[in-house]
Amino acid sequence: MAYNDRFIRACFKQEVDRLPVWYMRQAGRYDPEYRQIKEKYTLLEICRQPELAAQVTLMPVRKLGVDAAILYSDIMNPVASIGVDFDIVKNIGPVIANPISSRQDIERLKPIDVHRDLQHILDTISILDRELDVPLITFAGAPFTIASYLIEGRPSKSYIKTKTLMYSDPGLWDMLMNKLGDMVITYLRAHVDSGGKAIQLFDSWVGALAPKDFERYVEPVITRIFAELSDLNVPKIYFPGVSSGELLPQLTSLQAEVIGLDWRVSIREGRRRTEGKYAIQGNLDPYLLTAPMDVIKQHAKEIIDMGLETSGFIFNLGHGLFPEASLEKLQELTAYVHDYSAEVLARRKA
Ligand code: CP3
Repeated sequence: MAYNDRFIRACFKQEVDRLPVWYMRQAGRYDPEYRQIKEKYTLLEICRQPELAAQVTLMPVRKLGVDAAILYSDIMNPVASIGVDFDIVKNIGPVIANPISSRQDIERLKPIDVHRDLQHILDTISILDRELDVPLITFAGAPFTIASYLIEGRPSKSYIKTKTLMYSDPGLWDMLMNKLGDMVITYLRAHVDSGGKAIQLFDSWVGALAPKDFERYVEPVITRIFAELSDLNVPKIYFPGVSSGELLPQLTSLQAEVIGLDWRVSIREGRRRTEGKYAIQGNLDPYLLTAPMDVIKQHAKEIIDMGLETSGFIFNLGHGLFPEASLEKLQELTAYVHDYSAEVLARRKA
């Protein structure tokens, strides 16, 4: 089969014959085959076996017919290399053995050594680079989102310890952001050197900040990450996570190609708030996927119609897939986005 570069083209706002589709967390527990593999191995055990991690990455690409693969990994993986012990615990998420709380803890964080500690991830990327006929997206967690796990020790709703450190010791906070920023830059560069074709920076929880705090405490490191990776000839995506609509006007000068939106801001409004600077990715409410198919399609159609108002749109969810989603509905949704957008684009050309 010919290589499908629709996703890359849309990231660069080039012409496409139909809209590209992929889903955040597209390898996951909604798929019975994935659940079977998870009965034998934990997430981290899968990640340490490149052949298996590549197979799990490929599963949704084959089953759903999506236009991009996303590396099967987790945003926590690189922190093992800077000296943080963690586990991904069933029904909780990332749990840190010794959460960070002092200056000493932050000073102790080591520079990442991808080849020494994370070669298995690079090997997975190399395997996928040979096997895929769609682009491979690799990713990292952004400094705020990673810091929230390192400091809270586990998923949090309030981010109270994180904000306490941020507001009470801005100098120390900046040191932490910069150390995590260095980690992200080195890690993502190694991904692209190993065959990754696009990169996404997941800042899942940064929407917890007010715009002026984002500007002071987070934006400098995000700007630096994209600036330092700007020589890489792959599309770069910033996903500011959930509830980040108020931050969008602040994101107009990143050296990135794509901004991801959650479902609270429409595609049209997201483009307006970012001054049309980026391609847009999103933003179906993942929890809508439990609704009847005609309701799902009705919402998808609205997103597609807005997406097609200008070039540069990638259909996705507003956040990750969850275990209750249905494989059949996802297959039908993917086909619908492809077919309906192809029809609109063909009509326009005629
Ligand atoms: O998208 C994909 O298919 C690639 C795989 C992927 C995983 N984690 C595997 C995973 C990706 C892109 C991630 C990123 C990630 N991890 C994020 C950013 C995206 C987002 O959702 O905002 C975050 C915040 C994490 C941290 C994390 N890992 C949490 C909060 C959890 C628990 C959530 C849950 O659903 O239980 C995890 C575990 C995790 N990482 C799972 C998967 C498929 C689910 C549990 C499992 O299957 O073992």
